[in-house]
Amino acid sequence: MRLFRYIILFLLLVGIGVFITSGVNAEKNQNAGEKLFLHFNCNACHTIKALHISLLRPKNPIERRQMRRSLRKLRREGRIPPDLSDVGNKHNVLWLNRWLEHKEKIDGRHHQEIFHGTAHEREVLAHWEETLKYSKFYDKNLK
Ligand code: HEC
Repeated sequence: MRLFRYIILFLLLVGIGVFITSGVNAEKNQNAGEKLFLHFNCNACHTIKALHISLLRPKNPIERRQMRRSLRKLRREGRIPPDLSDVGNKHNVLWLNRWLEHKEKIDGRHHQEIFHGTAHEREVLAHWEETLKYSKFYDKNLK
C-alpha cells in the first residue's frame, strides 16, 4: 500500500502546482491588460479611479494642449469618456472586444478611438476590462 500512498502524494503535489501556476497566470493577465491600457494611451481619455489610473498628462506642452483640446471637443459633443472602474458590470468580454474593433455602437456611434493593436492585444484588453467591477466608484463618473 506504500505505492498507493506515494501516488496520492504525487497527485496532491501536482494539484498544488497547477493551483499556484494558475494564480500566477491570472495575475500575469491582469498586469498585461493594464500595461496595454497604458501603452495605447487609453488614459488620454479614460480614468480608472479604482486602480488609481488618472488622466495622462504629457510632458510636452504642445501635446498637452492638443489633448486638452480634443477632450473639450468631445465634451462639447456630449461624448464624455467614462471612468472605466466598473466597465465589467456594463459589458462582457465579447462586447468589449467588438467595441474596440468598431463593431459595436453606443448611442449610434462607434468608439472615438481607433485601436491600433493586434487581435490578441484586443482580446487581452477586453478580458482585463471585464474584470473591472468596482461599482463603488460608479456614481462619481456620472455627469
Ligand atoms: C479620444 C478619447 C478616447 C480614447 C483615447 C479612448 N476612448 Fe474609450 N471612449 C471614449 C468615449 C468618448 C467613450 C463614450 C462612448 C462614446 O460617446 O463614444 C468611450 C467609451 C469606451 C468604453 C465603453 C464604456 C462604457 O461605459 O460603456 C470602453 C470599454 C472604452 N471606451 C475603452 C477604451 C480603451 C480600452 C481605450 C484604449 C485602447 C480607449 N477606450 C481609448 C473616448 C476615448
